Amino acid sequence: MTSNIYLLEISIFVLGFFSVNLDLAACVNFSEAFELNWAPHHIISEGDQIKLTLDNISGCGFESKKKYLFGQASVQIKLIEGDSAGTVTAFYISSEGTNHDELDFEFLGNVSGEPYLVQTNIYVNGTGNREQRHTLWFDPTLDFHTYSFFWNRHCILFLVDRIPIRVFTNKEENGVLFPRNQAMSIRGSVWNADDWATQGGRVKTNWTHAPFVSTFRSFIIDACELLPETDDILAQCGKLSGFWWDKPAFDGLNRHRSHQLKWVQRRHLSSPLAEMEMTAQSLSRANLPSCSPSFLHSKATLSASKLVVPFQSSKNYTAKLKFDRIRLRKQRNLGVICASESESETKTATDVTDRWLLEPAGDGDSRHIGFKVQMPDSFEIASSEVTVGRLPDKADVVIPVATVSGVHARIQKKGGNLLVTDLDSTNGTFINDQRLRPGVVSKVPPGSFLIFGDIHLAMFRVSKLENVDSTESKPEESADNLESNTATEDTSTD
Ligand SMILES: *[C@@H]1O[C@H](CO)[C@@H](O)[C@H](O)[C@H]1NC(C)=O
Ligand SMILES: *[C@@H]1O[C@H](CO)[C@@H](O)[C@H](O)[C@H]1NC(C)=O
Ligand SMILES: *[C@@H]1O[C@H](CO)[C@@H](O)[C@H](O)[C@H]1NC(C)=O
Ligand SMILES: *[C@@H]1O[C@H](CO)[C@@H](O)[C@H](O)[C@H]1NC(C)=O
Ligand SMILES: *[C@@H]1O[C@H](CO)[C@@H](O)[C@H](O)[C@H]1NC(C)=O
Ligand SMILES: *[C@@H]1O[C@H](CO)[C@@H](O)[C@H](O)[C@H]1NC(C)=O
Repeated sequence: MTSNIYLLEISIFVLGFFSVNLDLAACVNFSEAFELNWAPHHIISEGDQIKLTLDNISGCGFESKKKYLFGQASVQIKLIEGDSAGTVTAFYISSEGTNHDELDFEFLGNVSGEPYLVQTNIYVNGTGNREQRHTLWFDPTLDFHTYSFFWNRHCILFLVDRIPIRVFTNKEENGVLFPRNQAMSIRGSVWNADDWATQGGRVKTNWTHAPFVSTFRSFIIDACELLPETDDILAQCGKLSGFWWDKPAFDGLNRHRSHQLKWVQRRHLSSPLAEMEMTAQSLSRANLPSCSPSFLHSKATLSASKLVVPFQSSKNYTAKLKFDRIRLRKQRNLGVICASESESETKTATDVTDRWLLEPAGDGDSRHIGFKVQMPDSFEIASSEVTVGRLPDKADVVIPVATVSGVHARIQKKGGNLLVTDLDSTNGTFINDQRLRPGVVSKVPPGSFLIFGDIHLAMFRVSKLENVDSTESKPEESADNLESNTATEDTSTD
């Protein structure tokens, strides 16, 4: 245990980064922290949920009563369902005036069945033009997901379910302005933007589908607050002090987050706006999304060219899910994983029919092991309970990687959830960057990363599959197309 330097490194970052702060920070009471600043009648408060409505009369919005500099702000949102074309739901932080600073999450709606885009932007001293667009790895209208800003004097992170999708690094030494002088309030809104939002403005809002409703909840504000008596944000928050975000661990991304960012950039960064930005950045050489030396040293250092990749996946959720299934069937040695001994357990119907997919998401780097190791395949959890481990005679799902323990973890399907329990493994089981305590059952949210002791070789992205009737697709035919698409995507990004 004492010799486990790698593990130590992970633990430090895990403790340092977010898990602690996001999980322990209490949600703020909406009516205490926020005021309705646009069309209050369009905002409905229901229990812990705030519903923002857009109709042919108005959109609406809210704003925090206080202003902040540095820290984190986070909210859970369930976006407008069905036809949301032309609409924009926003979660953003901004100061006032023409030379304002602003950080944006803007969710651009789409026609039914087509994917939302998440547009992020950064304004400094009144200038934006830093739009980046991402697709999401889940349907944001089905459930709540967490969208967060983290910012300190070194960098700004945009996170989705705590996975960084964008990093903006302070490069003031290269003459690039960085937002660190202005107090900003935290805001949310829904409005009509059908002149540009959906498919370049070609698809307009269809008002017969109004009202359009986005639901917000679980607001977390853990930031340096401007106290009205002083009015001097720099005196209060601008100097290095005991804030948690000023600790060295928050200077940049740890290895694990770098990998996640790389995965997002490869799979979910959408062009062409991103392409423009990346080109500009590679010209200036000023803005590579690195936050710290540790980020630069990791294999995940991003080059501009790597960021500009054609986007292919999740165009259509139904198609994507079928695609996953088809690809699964085609894989060698795959099969659906069933446990040998758990048949006697009582199962509810949903536990059996729930479909959960684990897809490898590590980078395959095996230098830490010293020899080449084959990456594990994608697999689907078919039984209500399976074990994961290195030893074929002991575990149901075998991951032949030295850092995976003989029997490493148990995975269960229960009540529509996927549960994981670490079985006292040497190198730990992680959900995103959180190490699980051995023996404690934890829920694995769809879209999260599940890691069995090794971020390079045994990291999986977890998704819940819709129950698609297998008779309605023609697997063999479409499988070939999809396979070749994947191949193209993979080669172009490596
Ligand atoms: C707005 O929608 C309502 C309900 O669909 C409709 O009755 C009303 O005429 C519309 N108003 C405008 C200004 O289009
Ligand atoms: C911010 O922009 C204004 C003009 O809008 C300019 O006068 C000022 O110098 C800028 N501030 C910085 C720090 O560049
Ligand atoms: C909407 O769907 C179309 C077609 O899949 C896609 O090109 C576009 O990027 C999607 N999102 C938006 C906001 O237009
Ligand atoms: C708007 O939605 C209605 C109801 O679904 C549909 O009949 C109509 O064709 C749509 N209008 C446009 C312009 O797509
Ligand atoms: C999504 O893909 C499925 C399967 O290919 C197709 O049946 C469906 O019509 C598509 N949805 C849209 C809105 O294009
Ligand atoms: C896994 O644990 C072993 C033994 O504690 C350690 O030597 C190794 O570095 C760890 N590997 C990883 C990838 O965490």
